[in-house]
Formats: sequence, C-alpha cells, structure tokens
Amino acid sequence: MKTPITIKNLIILFFLIISTACTLQKKKRVITFPKTDLAAESFIPKPLKVISTNSGFALDKHTAIYTSKNNTEFEEVGRFLANKIKAKTDLDLKVNIDEILDKETVIYINQSNGINHNKREAYQLYITQDSIILNSNTTEGAFRGIQTLQQIIPETSNDTLSSTKIWVVPTGKIIDSPQFEYRGAMLDVARHFFNVEDVKKYIDILAYYKYNALHLHLTDDQGWRIEIKSWPKLTEIGGSTEVGGGSGGFYTQKEYSEIVNYAAIHHIIIVPEIDMPGHTNAASVSYPFLNGNGKTPKLYKGMKVGFSTFNTHKDTVYAFIDDVVREISALSPGPYFHIGGDESHVTKKKDYIYFITKVEKIVQKYGKRIIGWDEIATANIDSTSISQFWSSKKNAEKAINKNMKIIMSPAKKAYLDMKYDSLSKHGLHWAGYIPVDTAYIWTPESYDGIPIKNILGIEAPLWSETISNIDELEYLAFPRAIGYSELGWTTQENRDWENYRLRLAKQSSFLNRMNVNYYPSILIDWNKNENSLEKIEKY
Ligand code: ACM
Repeated sequence: MKTPITIKNLIILFFLIISTACTLQKKKRVITFPKTDLAAESFIPKPLKVISTNSGFALDKHTAIYTSKNNTEFEEVGRFLANKIKAKTDLDLKVNIDEILDKETVIYINQSNGINHNKREAYQLYITQDSIILNSNTTEGAFRGIQTLQQIIPETSNDTLSSTKIWVVPTGKIIDSPQFEYRGAMLDVARHFFNVEDVKKYIDILAYYKYNALHLHLTDDQGWRIEIKSWPKLTEIGGSTEVGGGSGGFYTQKEYSEIVNYAAIHHIIIVPEIDMPGHTNAASVSYPFLNGNGKTPKLYKGMKVGFSTFNTHKDTVYAFIDDVVREISALSPGPYFHIGGDESHVTKKKDYIYFITKVEKIVQKYGKRIIGWDEIATANIDSTSISQFWSSKKNAEKAINKNMKIIMSPAKKAYLDMKYDSLSKHGLHWAGYIPVDTAYIWTPESYDGIPIKNILGIEAPLWSETISNIDELEYLAFPRAIGYSELGWTTQENRDWENYRLRLAKQSSFLNRMNVNYYPSILIDWNKNENSLEKIEKY
C-alpha cells in the first residue's frame, strides 16, 4: 500500500533529516588548526617532492587505519604503523575495523597500480584535514611511505585545540621514490660478535631511514659466526673468540633466520657475507685442510689483515664452500650472496682469479647473485656480479669495463668505523677522519668518475675491530648512517648540507626515544631540550 504524502508526513521527514544532520554534526568537530608547512618538516631522507597546503590532520584516539582489501601484506604495513604510533603517542589506532561512522579521521593505505613510476619503492601521500591517503604499487613502497608519515607526527600533542589530545599532522602532498635501488649498511659481526637483539635494534633504526639492505660480515680471521650444520666445528672452534680474546659467539641457523625474518618485516634484505679466499683463519683453524699453506693455524685475536688464504687447488675446499653457500642461501631469501674477496694478499694472483671464478659458479647454482669487494673485478666474472667499491679506482674501472653494477662504499667517505676526529673514543683512521659533514658532502653519483649507470646503490660498512657492544656500535653509526640514507635515497639536486644539518638536529628526539647512543657532533645544533647537552659533556 502506498503511503500518502501528507503535510504531517513531510513535517516528520523534515525533522528527521534535521536531527540526523545534527547528530552527524556533533561528531564532526570543527578545529581551527595552526598554520602548518609540510615542506619545512625535518624529513630524512628528503622526499622527491613535497607540496604544503598549510592545514592540519587531527591524529587522535578517533583516527582509524584502513588498508587495501584482501591484501594481508598491506594490512601488516597498517599494523606496523599502528604499533609505531602507539609507541610514539600512546594512541591505540584500530586497523581495518568494520565500523567507520564514528571515526573522524582516517589513514588509508592503498595498493594502487596508478602510481606512474617504475621504481618499486615509490609512494604518494595525500594529507588533508579528514584523511591521509598513502598509495603505492608495492608493499615496499607502502612501508617506505609509513616511515615518512611517522616522521611528521609531532613528538607531543597539541592540547589547546580540542578536549582530546591531538597530534597535528601538516597537510599537503608528497611524491617520492628512491634514487638508488640498493641502500645498505654493513655490520661486521666477526671481529666482535653482536647478538640477535643488537642486530634487531640496528634494523629498527635503519628501517626508519628507509634502508633496504643489511649486509652481515659473518666470517673473518677472528671468528666464524654462523652455524653450518654440515661443518659444525666452524662455530664450535672458529666461533670461540674475537678481537682482543673475548669469547666470541655465533648465530644458530634458527637465530640467523630470526634476523632474516625481522629484517623482512622491515622490508630489509639480509646480505650474508662469507669472506674468502683471504680473511679465513677462523675457518682454517676449525678445518685445517682448508688452509692454503698446509699448516694448522691458531685462533687469532689480533687486528692485522691479509695473512690467510684458503687452498684454491683442492676439490674438497670447493665441496666445503658448496655446503656453506647451500646452507646459507636456503636461509636467505634476498637475491645476493657476498663472497668477500678482499685483501687476499697471500693468494697468488692466478689462484685468486681461478678461485673467484669457481666460487661465482657455486653461488649462481644456488640462485644468488654475487657481491664481492672491489678486488673481484680482477677475476673473469659475469656482468651480473656486483662489485663493492671500497678503495681501488683501478678495480672500479675493471668492473665498469665488465659492465658490472657497483655498490659505492668508498672508505674515505662511507666507512662508519673511521673516527669522527682525533678525539673519537672508538674507531680507526687509516682512511682518514670522517666528521659528520665529510660523511654527507660527497656525490656517490659521480665519485671517482664512476658513471651513475653502473651504480646499484650505496652501503655504509661498520667494521668492528674497536667496538664490542651496542653502545659503541651506535656511537660510530649514528648520526653518520642517517646521512648515508639520504645519499642513497635523495637526488643530488635535493641535497644540501646546511639544510640537512637543521633536519639532522631534529632527529635527536627520535634517537633519544629509541635510546640510541649517537655521537653528538658539535657541527650540529641538536635540539637543546633533548638531553644532548648532557651527551656533549659525556664525550
Ligand atoms: C675492506 O675494508 N677490507 C673491504
């Protein structure tokens, strides 16, 4: 039966509409935001393009996070963001709850094929008063995008704007993608061992600055740090000491996988390194048939390099290497396997070339791409293998002639174990002192004439002869590793030391919150209220 439209019904309908509108209006608070400037935020690394619209997004207890439907990886990114927001603000943001009506502001994390960019980690952020929309083609891009978002959530809430606590996120648009596809840090766990918790903490900080690779230098003369089930003495004997004679240590395969999985959650790959044919004393002490000079060596606690070599002629040595590469490759989902290859001063040149060429084939058999220190370019290796430039321009030229990709780690600029200056408590200085400005002011895009088309990316190695705990690790790594993240991500036109040092000063609140023992360089005007004066006195 049709209801007749009477005057009475129209009046009832009118009041219903008015009262519904009033109810909705009650939920929508009107906030007058202070003027913001997204482009002036202290992002590191600096994004490709930032446009400010000068208003604010109210992050508060009513904000909810939504991620692309039926995409568990994007949902994980959303949960990761919620956890980080909880740690920073104590807000408990819900992720993908059904009921959206009473939420006033929303963060959407969308898988979107519409990002017109060929880089996997590209993303775009649109921040308005009502919503934050993060679009990326890939989970990696979404993950890099939430790091940017974390960096613009203020440390403290603005309690004068509303009856609830509000964190005002500046509005505008960010279009971003990295300059280089490889942005790595290296940690030497062989000269001194660092446990799983230490490595995880390092990963936490690296991820915040959009690193995507952590290279673990797992073996050297002083220690073998990863369990190989088919060769158990490597860790039983070879893992039992370190520089200075401490008790060393090693990762069981389960622990190594724990690191790999933790890194994967942070969209960081682990690059395992087994350094050979030199730097192999610990392996040869464990299994003397490996040793190039036929003698049984002793455990080594010193710092000298270049005295050890594998025997490059024995088939049993290659059978051993095959087992090691097979076991580690099975635990390492990343595309790379680092074979070291540096400073093999007691391996004859022809034996070195024969060895590297043979080991390349073993690595390729297990589906991995070789990375090696710059010396590997002296061997007859494929253009698919990657040379890590650390000191020799000649070797870099050889790599370029072979059409190889190069990872830029020039010791004079990018070695995190170089002292800041003569007063530094830790570190070495054979490649020079590297204060915070020297670490930042160089151009990996054109260093030593290496053309950009050959450059895969940049990596900051941290050798551990002089450091043995996480505090000392952090003292050398930070703040310099923050600058290397910008050299890897941000184009040269967008980098500027004077602007960078202001943005770096603002990182103290994050570093202090994460309890990072960074070196408070006097080149930086650290935020005065962030305990840095206390720190400066400490050093
Ligand atoms: C190196 O510093 N020996 C790669």
